[in-house]
Amino acid sequence: MPDTSQYLAGRTLILVSNREPYEHFHEEGAAGDDVKVRRPPGGLVSALDPTMRCTHGTWVAWGSGSADRETADETGRLQVPPESPAYTLRRVWLDDADVDGYYLGFANSALWPLCHMLLQHYDMRQEYWDRYVAVNERFADAAAEEARRAPKAPVVWVQDYHFALVPSLLRQRLAGERRPTFIHQFWHIPFPPPDILRLLPTAAYTGVMRGLLGNDLIEFHTDRYAQNFLDCVDEFVPESRVHRDGKRVRLGDRDVSLGVFPISIDVEQYESLARGPDGAQKAAELREKYVADGGSLGVSVDRVDYTKGIPERLRALDQLWTEAPELRRKLTFVVVATPSRSELRSYKTLEEEVVAGVKAINDKFGEDGWTPIVLINENVDAAGLASIYRAGDVCLVSSLQDGMNLVAKEYIACNVDEQGVLVLSRFTGAAAEIDDAILINPFNVDGVVAGLRRAVTMPPEERRARMQRMRRQLHRATIFDWLEAILARVDELASSATELRPAAAE
Ligand code: ADP
Ligand code: F6P
Repeated sequence: MPDTSQYLAGRTLILVSNREPYEHFHEEGAAGDDVKVRRPPGGLVSALDPTMRCTHGTWVAWGSGSADRETADETGRLQVPPESPAYTLRRVWLDDADVDGYYLGFANSALWPLCHMLLQHYDMRQEYWDRYVAVNERFADAAAEEARRAPKAPVVWVQDYHFALVPSLLRQRLAGERRPTFIHQFWHIPFPPPDILRLLPTAAYTGVMRGLLGNDLIEFHTDRYAQNFLDCVDEFVPESRVHRDGKRVRLGDRDVSLGVFPISIDVEQYESLARGPDGAQKAAELREKYVADGGSLGVSVDRVDYTKGIPERLRALDQLWTEAPELRRKLTFVVVATPSRSELRSYKTLEEEVVAGVKAINDKFGEDGWTPIVLINENVDAAGLASIYRAGDVCLVSSLQDGMNLVAKEYIACNVDEQGVLVLSRFTGAAAEIDDAILINPFNVDGVVAGLRRAVTMPPEERRARMQRMRRQLHRATIFDWLEAILARVDELASSATELRPAAAE
């Protein structure tokens, strides 16, 4: 873990995200009032919890767990992680109408499918936008309050597409304050080109762009997403001036900088979980159970989301076992597919489709003593995931679009035996970074099948050489390197900023 104190010296970090890092709930069917805590699945929480542990500060998030209110003090605050408190979690409470309109509606039925360019899932209503504005106002209020009570100069770090409006709303709230607040935002998902963003109503796409331009700095995973953002500024904010080379936008008397910072994982944590006695033993048990002599184990891990290409993956496996009967019994797949956003019909339907798809394949190819696909559709803790990754000879990531995809990096970190092969969709941010994966196009089933065949037949020396290179590369770009690079940029920009200027007129 790096010493980030040099960057945050004299500053207090306030992080704002929709998803909270620790959810409290009552176990279904359990007697008594016992409150359980879990870390929800998803890349944002996986990446940012380790960063908050070392930077401290306050994390503002939606209190989404059914028992969250029971754990907070009267201000909604709580010290986390539960086992060794290192930072403050401040919850914002949302009612059902907020959740429907802002989270399930505008964020996940409009922005999410558009940013991932999967237009068949796009669903937009005026009330979604109205709630999104209202909830962004609430989070801007909470962030402003935290900024005012921060012991040192505040740096507010907004996360993701749920809060495109928070930066400019916050800037308005803090204008004229004695102490300047540096505002920046990490956009965790792809950013679409203008022809896609303009499918939103005009007020919504201009609102999103102007809201984001309230930041001092906006961070993306890849250069392509940053270029798309600049194209959208060019088209939708005509009074701005875009400086492509310097990745900068001039708006009124302010500069908004852009940066490319591919997110990563706590490599050592995953590695030591995979190497530890528990990880090693569980991985050995999995192999004992599922891998025949000379056979292979394939693994995949995702939230059930239409961006992840899970039905496409199942089609490829069906075709593989049809075309290559010699791989029956020789290749078993463990598919971890955890329900996510189940309140949305498209997600619920997908969950059912995945369960039915796995069953159909198992009915078609299964034999006495061999189940082709083992489906795990529940939350798995980091240690459990590490042992699954370690056990896998092949990891298949088949996202149709994915901002980064941390699973690919987790697999590499856990591959301590250096014999695994990563088969990776070229439409992930990770593919722009990882050179030694087998790249596939998940829309082309034949190509995925060819990639899988290549993976399971790859000679051991080539597997080792590729995995060693991927592991070296990952060790040079961990979540802490990512954090350090961003904090260094924040430090540089914040030190040169003299005053907090108000946002351009809405
Ligand atoms: P996204 O952010 O879209 O969910 P990523 O691949 O970037 O996609 O991140 C997913 C994160 O969620 C990873 O850290 C992964 O380990 C975690 N995750 C996925 N499935 C599960 C699960 N079943 N249980 C626990 N964590 C999970
Ligand atoms: O990384 C994209 C993202 O939306 C994160 O913001 C989020 O934590 C993760 O996917 C999981 O989604 P949700 O928070 O909606 O369950």
